[in-house]
Amino acid sequence: MELTLDVLKEKLTAWKGCDLAKTANPVFGEGNPHAKVMFIGEAPGDKENEQGRPFVGAAGKFLDDLLESIGLKRDAVYISNVVKFQPPENRDPKPLEKEQCLPWLMLEIALVQPKVIVPLGRHALAYFLSDITISDAHGKDFHLTDSVTVFPIYHPAAALHNGSLRSSLATDFRALGDFLQTVA
Ligand code: URA
Repeated sequence: MELTLDVLKEKLTAWKGCDLAKTANPVFGEGNPHAKVMFIGEAPGDKENEQGRPFVGAAGKFLDDLLESIGLKRDAVYISNVVKFQPPENRDPKPLEKEQCLPWLMLEIALVQPKVIVPLGRHALAYFLSDITISDAHGKDFHLTDSVTVFPIYHPAAALHNGSLRSSLATDFRALGDFLQTVA
């Protein structure tokens, strides 16, 4: 059977390879299967767990606004998470949980083949650039391979409670929008 995003999503639904899968619903990525840009968050929250979709709560609404601010519709991009299941009480995902879920994300990236990967926050950033913090890396483009650039941005949820991060996110999205114009 050909591996597609739909097939991968079905396989995730049946997967019980980490403890979180016993207590939460699977939340696979969604969006344009051929998107030029892919956004990667940390893990689903309450709303995402309820609906089985990434970034549909307050942080997701903010992400939608930021996308709109640079003329991008949500269905033009691909949005996913490192961890595919909500951790209890929305705690940070543990290293083992991130490691166990990583193959799903890697296969999504291999299928979508984005030109630009936007890690949202430090958990996603760490998989692409291991020796730099989000506060140093945000808003800048890093050449990962000949065809893939990583453009880290703060997590929108962090900015919901912090006014200065909010304006930093808006600035970084403008820089992302400008950068995307240069990517074929
Ligand atoms: N935060 C995330 O990192 N991912 C979501 O899907 C929602 C909130």
